[in-house]
Amino acid sequence: MNKVDFLIVGSGIAGLSYALKLCEFYQKKNHHPKICLITKDEPFESNTRYAQGGIAAVIDADDSYEKHINDTLVAGSHINNEEVVKLVVENGPERIRELINWGAQFDKSDDGDYKLAKEGGHSDHRILHFKDVTGQEIQRALLDTIKKYDNVEILQDYYAVDLITQHHLGEDVTRYRKDTQCYGVYALNKLSGEVETILSKVTLLATGGIGQVYNTTTNPSVATGDGIAMTYRAKGIVEHMEFVQFHPTALYERGNHGNAFLITEAMRGAGAILKNSKGEDFVKRYDKRGSLAPRDIVARAIDSEMKKEGKDHVWLDASGINEKELKSHFPSIYKKCFDKGIDITKDLIPVAPASHYLCGGIVVNTKAETSINNLLACGECTCTGLHGANRLASNSLLEAAVYAHEAFETSLQLIDKTTWAEDIPEWNKDGTSVPEEMVLISQSRSDLQRVMSNYVGIVRSDERLARAFKRTGLIYEETEELYKKTVISQPLCELRNMITITYLIIGGAKNRHENIGLHYSIDYE
Ligand code: SIN
Repeated sequence: MNKVDFLIVGSGIAGLSYALKLCEFYQKKNHHPKICLITKDEPFESNTRYAQGGIAAVIDADDSYEKHINDTLVAGSHINNEEVVKLVVENGPERIRELINWGAQFDKSDDGDYKLAKEGGHSDHRILHFKDVTGQEIQRALLDTIKKYDNVEILQDYYAVDLITQHHLGEDVTRYRKDTQCYGVYALNKLSGEVETILSKVTLLATGGIGQVYNTTTNPSVATGDGIAMTYRAKGIVEHMEFVQFHPTALYERGNHGNAFLITEAMRGAGAILKNSKGEDFVKRYDKRGSLAPRDIVARAIDSEMKKEGKDHVWLDASGINEKELKSHFPSIYKKCFDKGIDITKDLIPVAPASHYLCGGIVVNTKAETSINNLLACGECTCTGLHGANRLASNSLLEAAVYAHEAFETSLQLIDKTTWAEDIPEWNKDGTSVPEEMVLISQSRSDLQRVMSNYVGIVRSDERLARAFKRTGLIYEETEELYKKTVISQPLCELRNMITITYLIIGGAKNRHENIGLHYSIDYE
């Protein structure tokens, strides 16, 4: 049994910046609590790494907090929590200064000012970026910096299976109980195959998104909603799961389902235009802001145009952007497309929407506290209230950085009031002796993805949701049967988590009887 003071699950911007803050704070105090970060893959692999466009903040003298707040509220259809929007927007610049101090680079112009890009729904240029690999650069800087501290242990290939609560002491835990405590996690050591007990005084979930529950996603294969599913199983509160954001422009590759390469919205911010097969700037017909309208509108316009034309994709025309700017701002997109035989300086880029970001998740207050005591959360796995019904582009890295700070402050309050739980049993593996049959797991995973993409995508209906509920219910029953008797593994646990996520998305969508933001049903047109 491993006992730590702070346990962090996840190694993206949220988990790493929280960990770094703890490291810095305790090093200055010459105090050595045990800080442990676990990640199911290698630490570089996270949703953060794939964020291309950048991080939004009020930097330019002509910009203002009011404008950024208003843009966030308009994109979110005004069901955002205004207090949270203010908190994130107003603390953004300070958190970005910290990222810069930790070594993250953002592009500057020749006069030394930061180059600020524009993306859909923003009324001003306010996106700090590092070429078209901003997330990768932030992730690099955070990982390089954290290596300098010896007061944090990073355990890679550790997969968090379940949160430990009073349930494991034989008590009844319900969603309405106010005193549910998190005592740590059971984590599968992927190398030994054993489930280890990690007890912690404070646990932070920073487990990222859920993109993998759909057929085509801009998210890496680790984005299976583990933290949200674990919290839900532990009877924590989860909300707004129906608001799944589809990025309008993922590179379309015939026959490729699964992970799709993102074509950043910043390219539209720089002047690229979406076109249909007749070469028309069709988005203008749906919204006067055209290709730079908020994402929910653009993704729906593309979906509708693809259906009208009977095509699998539309086109992005970046040829109007100055060639030097195109190559220097978007080098990774230029290379990726060039390798596929597309010269983006003159050729049209085939693009289609792909699942990209979840606006809902584990409900947290402004102190990053979940409904379970001693369990904090930040980043994409949370529902802070910032995004409302649709996230404004490049507000996600910002939210993660701001809430990592809030979680850090809260942790300092919690740590002295908390001690390790006693009598926590080791993981019970009774009855699980059958070796995993991978074909059953991978087939169910792709069945689930297909059902979600076909029935719970950009445009929904009551009938499609009912069908999805029935089909995913069957996959749930089969998987629970398998889980009871099979030796535990990451693919099996991920599948269970993904099923929980689909249940929550479908449930949220069935209960929302209106069209708002990212939730759109033909029954409410
Ligand atoms: C993009 O670069 O278009 C994605 C950025 C984001 O999702 O905010």
